[in-house]
Amino acid sequence: MSRTSSLAIATAAATAASLLAPIAHADTVQLESGAATWNMKASFLKYIQAPFVAGTITASEGAEKVVEGGKVTNFSFPVNTAGTKLDNNGNGTIDLDGAVRVEGHHGAMDIQLSDLKLLINGTEGILQADYVRTGAMPGNETTTSTGDDKPIMTFTVPNSVATDKAGEQSFTFTPTTVTEDGEIIFESYKKGDVLDDGTVGLTLKYSEKKDDAPSGTQTPGGAKTPAPQTGSGSSTGAVVAAVVAVLAALGIGGALISGLIPGFKLPL
Ligand code: HEM
Repeated sequence: MSRTSSLAIATAAATAASLLAPIAHADTVQLESGAATWNMKASFLKYIQAPFVAGTITASEGAEKVVEGGKVTNFSFPVNTAGTKLDNNGNGTIDLDGAVRVEGHHGAMDIQLSDLKLLINGTEGILQADYVRTGAMPGNETTTSTGDDKPIMTFTVPNSVATDKAGEQSFTFTPTTVTEDGEIIFESYKKGDVLDDGTVGLTLKYSEKKDDAPSGTQTPGGAKTPAPQTGSGSSTGAVVAAVVAVLAALGIGGALISGLIPGFKLPL
């Protein structure tokens, strides 16, 4: 038998085997929705709402202010499921919608944050964002600093956020630690400062995976699942085609195969 024929048989046999492989357990649920919260730092939100700051707090593009006792105590950002990619260990990117803006001191402070993401790598978490920060501490000149996809705070992730169960899971990450860009934004908090009253929260809601889930649907583990095969591309048809390929490689004539399977045209 020629080397080419052996290769054809091996390839066809491997294709047939892979088509019959069981579906991985982690593919049984898919991310349906979620939200993350970030309070920046509890004392900062209190400061901003003190009368002498004359502050304004704005949440937009899906972000919301969490108000308790008439005061803003947190921000909530919806999880963008399409942009979220987590692997089977819960590592990856949780994409968040929404933007927030904090203004105060009659134009001397303006902090805008958008395109927030939570990056998870093992026990390390990063809150990343785009920012535009304009202002001046008392006695300083007004400057503007910007950042694109910059780490603002880091936090510890004690337990994996991955799951293979449908339902809602919530996590709280505290304290947070200030990064270089976090210091540029808040100025009074320095790189490496541990903010005991800084908290990132995360809620992820998973549902049972439906058979007709679209191509590339996010699973909790992030594994992309192929689109279901339909019509002439059904798995039965594919198995038949693979078996036919094996028979053909063994030298069995196309006419015989076509005769055995009514209506089947040899794809060779
Ligand atoms: C971009 C400009 C500014 C930024 C980023 C900024 C940021 C901050 C931060 C992070 C704190 C600490 C809040 C806390 O955790 O308790 C703070 C406190 C303070 N800031 Fe600003 N600030 C700015 C401009 C100003 C200006 C222009 C003034 C005065 C006109 C001012 C007056 C104060 C005072 C008095 C405190 C102390 C508040 C307290 O301890 O109760 N800040 N600022």
